[in-house]
Amino acid sequence: MSVSIAIDGPAGAGKSTIAKLVAEKLHIIYVDTGAMYRAMGLYFHRKGISPDDEAAICAACGEADVSIVYEGGAQQVLLNGENVTGCLRTEEAGKMASATSGYARVREKLVELQRKLAAAKSVVMDGRDIGTVVLPQADLKIYLTASVEARAKRRYLELTGKNVPCKIEEIARDIEQRDYQDMHRENSPLRKAEDALYLDSSEMSIREVADAIISALFEKLMSERTPDQNLEGALEEIIKKESDLR
Ligand code: DC
Repeated sequence: MSVSIAIDGPAGAGKSTIAKLVAEKLHIIYVDTGAMYRAMGLYFHRKGISPDDEAAICAACGEADVSIVYEGGAQQVLLNGENVTGCLRTEEAGKMASATSGYARVREKLVELQRKLAAAKSVVMDGRDIGTVVLPQADLKIYLTASVEARAKRRYLELTGKNVPCKIEEIARDIEQRDYQDMHRENSPLRKAEDALYLDSSEMSIREVADAIISALFEKLMSERTPDQNLEGALEEIIKKESDLR
């Protein structure tokens, strides 16, 4: 049985942590699509291309080959054959990804790669446009969000935990700006798919959110099964694994 779960939402809502946990519980792969936009961003940054130069960015798209492999279940991103996974969470890659992910040419290229991955395997995929554009037929769509205050507080604790000096007000302003950019761009803006389940994680633990997603998946699959499909075995397996984790 192959399943696809799409998780969309704004930055800092906990998508990747939750998606990873759900994928682990279901024994399927987690596809982090933000990492792909970051890999393209890294390529443009290395080439010294201005993010405002759309023609140059589009031309460079053809030169950047992004591919995904899994090592011990963890996604690795290859850029023209080089494993760049460790370079993707930098300020430069993030800024460039944010500035160039609105270009149609960049999106077309990565959407094609994302669809290929989901066609080959069961996936939990997170991003901004997974339920609306990439996998409109996903078995389950989640729109995961949290208040600006909750997201700023989480980020603040994360940074101070690493001894990075920061101000919670500035983090909150940054989050609001990124939300606005993601939701108001012309190509594939962030929005909740009509049939997506809306989850606000502000007052929920990671485990509660992951459990809510897995329960929703069960319900959806059970409600859609045909009489000849025996889902009980597959579901019981997952429930068992879930209770083992508690
Ligand atoms: O989730 P993230 O911060 O790693 O994403 C990096 C950038 O890529 C961010 O600016 C939003 C963009 N992105 C996107 O446009 N579509 C996606 N499916 C995933 C990320």
